[in-house]
Amino acid sequence: MKKPDNPFLISGYHSPPYFCNRNDEVKHLEESLLNGRNITLFSPRRLGKTGLIHHFFYRIREKKINSVYVDIFGTENLSQFIRQFANAAIRSIAVNKEKFIEKAMKFFGSIRPQFSFNERSGMPEMTFALQSDREKGKTLDDIFDFLESQRQPNVIAFDEFQQINEYPEKNTEKLLRSSIQQLKNSQFLFSGSQRHLLLSMFSDAKRAFYQSTGFLSLKKLNRTEYFNFISIHFKKDRQIIEPEAVDFILDWTKGYTFYTQDICNKIFLSHYKKITIAEVKKAIQEIFYEREVIYYNYRKILPEQQYRLLKAIAAEDIVTEPTGQNFINKHGLGNPSTVRKSLKALMEKELIYDSSLNENASYEVYDVFLEKWLVFMEQNNGR
Ligand SMILES: Nc1ncnc2c1ncn2[C@@H]1O[C@H](COP(=O)(O)OP(=O)(O)OP(=O)(O)O)[C@@H](O)[C@H]1O
Ligand SMILES: [Mg+2]
Repeated sequence: MKKPDNPFLISGYHSPPYFCNRNDEVKHLEESLLNGRNITLFSPRRLGKTGLIHHFFYRIREKKINSVYVDIFGTENLSQFIRQFANAAIRSIAVNKEKFIEKAMKFFGSIRPQFSFNERSGMPEMTFALQSDREKGKTLDDIFDFLESQRQPNVIAFDEFQQINEYPEKNTEKLLRSSIQQLKNSQFLFSGSQRHLLLSMFSDAKRAFYQSTGFLSLKKLNRTEYFNFISIHFKKDRQIIEPEAVDFILDWTKGYTFYTQDICNKIFLSHYKKITIAEVKKAIQEIFYEREVIYYNYRKILPEQQYRLLKAIAAEDIVTEPTGQNFINKHGLGNPSTVRKSLKALMEKELIYDSSLNENASYEVYDVFLEKWLVFMEQNNGR
């Protein structure tokens, strides 16, 4: 595999040298999934769930396990889910284009698939139309039969699994659960960022997936490990990054991999000999500049009260009592009931999220770049 030009990946997965740590998590996944236990992985967005799934699959490559990665993020209904799943299942087994089509025709010939090649990835893809509920149920079973008929056991990852709650077919959960229950040769890794939704799917006695999995809540990367990872990758390119600059990055991004990788990726492009906090700040300014259009737009589209609250949360970093007098007075937010309404609206728009792991909510702006930009604008006399 060709070495990436930039060691700080901002999309996709390459190989272990470009992925920091997560050894305990891989061990946990291995102990569960390779011992007959399904698992649900969750964390706030952009902390490394998808990366971890690919890294885990890479680590178990030698174990003669068939790994199937299904991303259902963009899917809107059961037919789209089935299409993603069918493609992922065939791809996991057929390595070349001819084999893909041969296998697809053998198993799914009756639904008359059409073949094309994905423009971005170059991967073969099949599309098909599923009309009736019966056809959908049957095709879903065909995919599972196809996977179960392989000699190797399967680990099947459904990334952004909570998405199935959005489908118009309200029976999706039950349908999937009843298919999954019959399987003998497959384990499941469910992953997603909406903790409450996922928890209720798996821990509510009335729901189909009740008690069907264990849980793994992904935390931020160990700071020392990430510090070393960053320093070493710069050093390999003869770029020396000062320890204060690495600390500055990790504080600023609050340790979220997405933002950290993005900043490091940008700095790396300049091939500086020496990187100080000044070079880091320059990269941050460039990132702000690239995203400004979107951020200015929030100012335009959000009602005044919501925008004020967003700015106030950004200024505080973490807010535990948004309806408390102190917070309200300090930021001129009116009264508790207005704040409560705006809070709900901002949560629904996924602009803020509750980062606590218990009932005592603590609110943070979801996008760290946006949070820092709001603070930066305030300090520079923006609205
Ligand atoms: N351990 C790691 N070491 C280095 N880079 C990582 C690591 N984990 C994740 N990344 C990088 O951080 C970015 C965000 O990770 P990823 O997409 O896996 O997060 P996610 O939790 O799936 O996010 P989302 O909830 O938005 O889907 C990616 O560019 C990924 O390559
Ligand atoms: Mg993801």
